[in-house]
Amino acid sequence: MSTQHEVAAVRVAPERRAVMLPRGPADASMRAAAGGRPAAGTPPARIRAAIVGATGYVGAELVRLLTRHPNVEIVGLVGRGRTHEPIGGTHIHLDRTGLHVDAVVPDADAVFLALPHGAAAEIVPDIAATGAAIIDLGPDFRLRAAADYPRWYGFEHPRPELLDGAVYGLPELHRDALGGLRDAAIAIVGAPGCYPTATLLALEPLAVAGLLSGDVIVDAKSGVSGAGKSPSERTHFSENHGSVAAYGLFGHRHTPEMEQALGLPVTFTPHLVPLDRGILATIYARLVPGTTAAQVSDALTAAYADAFFVRLTGDRLPEIKHVAHTNFCDIGWRVDEATGRLIVVSVIDNLVKGAAGQAVQNMNLMFGFPEGQALDQLAVVP
Ligand SMILES: NC(=O)c1ccc[n+]([C@@H]2O[C@H](COP(=O)([O-])OP(=O)(O)OC[C@H]3O[C@@H](n4cnc5c(N)ncnc54)[C@H](OP(=O)(O)O)[C@@H]3O)[C@@H](O)[C@H]2O)c1
Repeated sequence: MSTQHEVAAVRVAPERRAVMLPRGPADASMRAAAGGRPAAGTPPARIRAAIVGATGYVGAELVRLLTRHPNVEIVGLVGRGRTHEPIGGTHIHLDRTGLHVDAVVPDADAVFLALPHGAAAEIVPDIAATGAAIIDLGPDFRLRAAADYPRWYGFEHPRPELLDGAVYGLPELHRDALGGLRDAAIAIVGAPGCYPTATLLALEPLAVAGLLSGDVIVDAKSGVSGAGKSPSERTHFSENHGSVAAYGLFGHRHTPEMEQALGLPVTFTPHLVPLDRGILATIYARLVPGTTAAQVSDALTAAYADAFFVRLTGDRLPEIKHVAHTNFCDIGWRVDEATGRLIVVSVIDNLVKGAAGQAVQNMNLMFGFPEGQALDQLAVVP
């Protein structure tokens, strides 16, 4: 049962016009009647999902994953200035889904936002007012301090009062908070950035265990799809192919996200590598004096005892190929006890565990579905 609310145009930035929005009831009982987020313990058979920004790379991955989710009906793909445009017109590989893109966000139980920074913050309040659960894949609900937005992203957050209630959507480390959104009047998830996903899964359990001391250095490589679908001089094939380039020194926008979670200074240098997808983060850290290799291993093993999508590889260092097209994060490490130094290597697929897959994992936890529903594919090798 999918109805569309009256819509209103919303301006996101002076030069850009955003998608149209629904206006609907904030009443939780109406949401539940429509089959929305259930009380804990009573997952619905099926929910209605909409994908805003479906014409982008992350949006395409969301479509690919959600079309094979047994508990999800996709009730709308949303893109700027589109009127019933076949999705195959933008993403030919999704043609057989038969889905269309429109400029209106339909009434839905879950709304995924795959938009550039600043665009989601403008429209989330109105979507939240309909009672829909929101999973934002951009940065607008990741940072706790409103003052970080003008500093790192160049915009004043329009609804800073929503930041406190938003849950940071790293499922393995915030599973309870995500499940808690089932009963919340407003449910907003700020899904982590791709680099922070690889980094925090590797380091946060060690920080929580009190094993890290001093600065952390994150040296990460990313495939070009991390920059989205619009080509630029940097991502142009003839510039990128056969080369590796560092960028964003001391200024990359994922830095505050990592520091917020770890409570430690992070020196982060990302690199663009000539791959279509994948992230490999090589992380250098100092251990608290006297920390043993066994303590590091125990902290990671304990943190991920029930985490299907985190695979600890220990001494065998992981590679991007091992996780390509999957929701896995593989983590390997070495400890030099004599000097108290730790090196961790963490790999993900930026578009799956770093974006769409993780967002679906968040949705599964919010609605009480099996955490890995629709996410169980193995890597594509070679
Ligand atoms: N790529 C990754 O690996 C990755 C990983 C994690 C998180 N993310 C985050 O996910 C979000 C989407 O990334 P992406 O890689 O999918 O980018 P993308 O390929 O550039 O797609 C962006 C989408 O947003 C739409 N859009 C652009 N400006 C808009 C505006 N002002 N109002 C409404 N819609 C607008 C685009 O529509 P049009 O077709 O009309 O241009 C397109 O559908 C970003 O916040 C990004 O940081 C990306």
